[in-house]
Amino acid sequence: MRLPLEPIRGMRDLIPPESDGLEYVGNAFADVASRYGYELIILPTIELFDLFAIKSGPEIKRSMYVFTDKGGRQVCLRPEFTAGVARAYLRLMRDRPKPVKLFYVGPAFRYEEPQAGRYREFFQAGVEFLGDPSIYADVELLLLIRDYYRSVGLSDYKIKMSTMAVYRSLFREWGMPEETQDLIIHYIDKKQLDDALKLVRQYNPSGIPLIEELLDVNSPEPDEIRSRVSGLELNPESVKEIGRLLRILELARNLNVGDPYVDLGFARGLAYYTGFIFEVVVPDAGFSIGGGGRYDRLVSVYGGEDLPATGFALGLDRLLLVLSGKGWNPPKRHARSALIALAEDYVLIDDVASKLRGLGLSVDVRVTSRKKLDDVLSDIAGRGYEYAVFLGGREVKEGAVTVKNLVRRTQKTLSLERLGLEDLP
Ligand code: HAM
Repeated sequence: MRLPLEPIRGMRDLIPPESDGLEYVGNAFADVASRYGYELIILPTIELFDLFAIKSGPEIKRSMYVFTDKGGRQVCLRPEFTAGVARAYLRLMRDRPKPVKLFYVGPAFRYEEPQAGRYREFFQAGVEFLGDPSIYADVELLLLIRDYYRSVGLSDYKIKMSTMAVYRSLFREWGMPEETQDLIIHYIDKKQLDDALKLVRQYNPSGIPLIEELLDVNSPEPDEIRSRVSGLELNPESVKEIGRLLRILELARNLNVGDPYVDLGFARGLAYYTGFIFEVVVPDAGFSIGGGGRYDRLVSVYGGEDLPATGFALGLDRLLLVLSGKGWNPPKRHARSALIALAEDYVLIDDVASKLRGLGLSVDVRVTSRKKLDDVLSDIAGRGYEYAVFLGGREVKEGAVTVKNLVRRTQKTLSLERLGLEDLP
């Protein structure tokens, strides 16, 4: 049987430099998140379908990989991490002092139409900040994103922000059930404004001009937004929520987080958001490289207490696309060396290779004969090695190695006893 070699549609085989790049940006995220006090959570790739079905929203629900396992359970490949974090929090961390701050890095799956920057298996890095209702928690997310992108060299991104609380508080006041609110928010996300307004009309026809005005507010200037909304007939809760959003915008501006702006016409596809939401946008890329927001009621949906919570996830594949478009390459983990051994003394070869690895070099061992040495030398040329290390008859006798720096074209014979990084040519 001849198997097709192509991976399944939307899936990818990742080899260097992409695999190195993905590992690098994932590790860099873990490093920054843990400096902000977040702890690693590792969750199952497969969960019960219902976990996501309850509060993910129509789009994600439609795009889930769902199947029945051999035990007859309806399960799915996780389309994101937040719902899993809420579940694991309720099971294992409910009694911990708040806030509980968690981070994750790993693959998620969505059966979407593949295109540039959209895959069916993709990698997310994110955090969830559980148990803190304050503005600081939302702002900290943005600070972490700022420091992370700085650490990988990305500077030209924008933070688009809004709040779901304004719409939800108006919709609640107009007697709209939560599922209808979720559907309207889904339509706003998809820019199907006619469908959204049609639903609003069913509950409060006189509220339509207000919703239209709100959807049109878009500016990086807090004062401009203030004056746009000041004439609107908002209820006290939505006035408070807009004040909160403007405070976050002002802080993001003062703290140099991307290029922040408010766009009240923007919503997010996931249905669990209750307040502040944001996306990270790269001009010209045509996609968001990250998104998140506040979801104060998700934990109670799963049968827990009302727990204020906020978080985000960044798309690592998309970040890499943007970085590689700028000519970025992941830094090499180790300088590479080829150890060319003319003696078949594996104990000695292991000793030398271990010493070199101990200095932080990566070592490819090539055992050869003097007759074939030229072949080996031409084979290693052009493979990107920084050092060639020779272990021949003379070196064995002297307890030494000859190290050639292939970049600088310099060479030294060094005693094995005192082989140090600073002695390398
Ligand atoms: P999301 O906006 O659905 O949010 O996904 C976050 C990021 O994952 C997106 O901005 C994008 O960069 C990346 N992404 C999503 N789908 C794909 C795809 N098919 N191919 C490549 N990259 C993709 C969430 O997942 C929420 N859980 C974020 C969150 C955490 N909210 C609160 N806490």
